[in-house]
Amino acid sequence: MSSQALSPIRIPWAVPPVGDEEADAARRAIADSRLSMGRNVREFEQAVEAYTGRGHGIAVSNGTDALEVAMRLLEIGPGDEVLVSALSYIATVNCIVRAGARPVWCDVNPETLNVDPADLAARITPRTKAYVAADYCGFAIDYPPIEKACADNGVSIIVDGAQSLGTFHGERSALKVGVLATTSFHSAKIITTGEGGMVLTDNDDLAERARRYRGQGEIPGRKYVHDALGFNHRITDFQGAIGVVQMTKLARLCELRRQHAHQYHAAFAGMPGVRVPVPLEGTTPAWFSLPILVDDRDGLARHLRSAGIETRSLYPIPTYRQPIPEYRHDQDPLPAAELCASQVLNVPLFAQMTSQDVDDVVGEVAAFVSATP
Ligand SMILES: Cc1ncc(COP(=O)(O)O)c(C=O)c1O
Repeated sequence: MSSQALSPIRIPWAVPPVGDEEADAARRAIADSRLSMGRNVREFEQAVEAYTGRGHGIAVSNGTDALEVAMRLLEIGPGDEVLVSALSYIATVNCIVRAGARPVWCDVNPETLNVDPADLAARITPRTKAYVAADYCGFAIDYPPIEKACADNGVSIIVDGAQSLGTFHGERSALKVGVLATTSFHSAKIITTGEGGMVLTDNDDLAERARRYRGQGEIPGRKYVHDALGFNHRITDFQGAIGVVQMTKLARLCELRRQHAHQYHAAFAGMPGVRVPVPLEGTTPAWFSLPILVDDRDGLARHLRSAGIETRSLYPIPTYRQPIPEYRHDQDPLPAAELCASQVLNVPLFAQMTSQDVDDVVGEVAAFVSATP
């Protein structure tokens, strides 16, 4: 182990936007004594339904569970192929592998870091059942050509919207795309309930089944009688209460993130050696994170850390190369995903940061790249 002490973190990568209001709401929910799945959970679901324009929201324990429920709802399993970007969080792929289906990795567009629609369309086969679409860091996917290719071939779209609650295509929420969408309320997300997730759909039958899977497959109104192989994906009522408060803040939180992101982008524009993915025209990113691409990514990460600035790399390895025994490791390298994974660094972005924080990060990035030959 290195004996060199790291300087304290001055600007963290993310800070959950919770405070007294959330604590008070949680306290009230606990005092109500219905600790699991009470009226606060339903109110939270309704707030997300209204925000996304979806007919049904089914709150679950986390975003990973939400994806697992989505796989079951569409009966995805052995023999099925499911399209997925090579550059996403591991949960986007694990749900496919866990269902027994085969992930079919698609390359990304190096300008957007989102899936390349032409590459995706070329990978559709008669076995392709679904595409799990995760808007990278809340940047909107180029849906029009993808929706067409999927519709033409009977491929269902499931949006993994863990990073894109707050992303819009024109007026349409990213979580309104596809037959099912999921999201996460993990503490690093734009709004949070600590842990938590939701399944969203407009289909009454899918919603009914999702609710049943969430509660052990029990038939509504018939205690201890079960007609589906369900599990426990429930969420607590105090998390629901926190979620209700967080939803009232979502638009403002997205606006603050947008301001910081625009300040970053203005500063990085034209900075030699630094590239930023640009949002697609007509879309509004949720600004879940602020990715930049630089040749010496690891060197920059070390430099920023020594200046007390925390970073992440979303993601340093395309998911097809993760050393997970259950994964088939027969994917040829996808050039754009490999390049982006080697260059991407996500700098701090959270609602409560100040304009001075952004300037400090930009200053350190500029100092590093200008000193790099
Ligand atoms: C794209 C994506 N999908 C799924 C998840 C999983 O969500 P959770 O952590 O709530 O299980 C995450 C969480 O980081 C994510 O970023």
